[in-house]
Amino acid sequence: MKKAITLASLIIVASLCGPTIAVGHGEKKAMKTGILLVSFGTSDKEAKVSFENIERLAHKKFKDTEIRWAFTSGIIRRKLAKSGVMIDSPTVALSKMYDDGFTSIAVQSLHTIGGAEYDELKEIVAKFKVGPEAFDKIELGAPLLNSYADLLRVAKEMLNEVPKERKNDEAVVLMGHGNEHHYSDLAYIAAAKVFKELDPLAFVGTVEGHPTLETVVEQCKAAKVKKTYLIPFMSVAGDHAKNDMASDDDGSWKSVLEKNGITCVAVLKGSAEYDSIASIWIEHLETAMDKLNN
Ligand code: CO
Repeated sequence: MKKAITLASLIIVASLCGPTIAVGHGEKKAMKTGILLVSFGTSDKEAKVSFENIERLAHKKFKDTEIRWAFTSGIIRRKLAKSGVMIDSPTVALSKMYDDGFTSIAVQSLHTIGGAEYDELKEIVAKFKVGPEAFDKIELGAPLLNSYADLLRVAKEMLNEVPKERKNDEAVVLMGHGNEHHYSDLAYIAAAKVFKELDPLAFVGTVEGHPTLETVVEQCKAAKVKKTYLIPFMSVAGDHAKNDMASDDDGSWKSVLEKNGITCVAVLKGSAEYDSIASIWIEHLETAMDKLNN
């Protein structure tokens, strides 16, 4: 009992001595920092393990900071709401954090590249820098691939995570998302180059942009590949990984490659399930948290 009282009083003392920030009229307001993790989202129950892993690592790093989630996809949020799972949009999540008295927010993007979705998130964050719901500080953490160093590290780690049974003459095909956004194609073409430099039989394609599946098939054929591992290059192994990549549907990556005489082994794991990759997002969160304290 005595121990419990001592601990409780310690917590009170600690919170009284916590960092404060000056507000008007000479008052001091306690600083309250929060983390908002933002993803496109998924309604796939199994794909959730990616998010759980990111949250686990974020919590390990920032034990005393509250972590909340937001999904950018309205379609996913509606779908989840129908099954009783309420997840906020970034705007709603930030408004709630404002109401709950947070003063400093690190928003961490769980996107792979700084593409269209990241740009949209940046605009939302900017709205909470000024105006009636302005936080004292709000920082946006970079997506996974934010520099050449990130890309090189991600490529090395992703290749390390390829199942060990893979033989020397077997390929690895990574499926990124991609879209028509001006930067997206450039990012994935750069990624394809870096993967190939590290491993001549590692090919990157995207669902909605460049490089295309067609390009990947041509590259596999040119290299006389007979078997390949199919690996999602997305944080979660959700709908795209299961349907577009690994299903037996006509037009899936697996079907198209197999029609071209290439046997496929699909690995249904999102990149955020690997600690080696997830920890890069966490480092970007750390950078954002550091900026809050400066
Ligand atoms: Co998509």
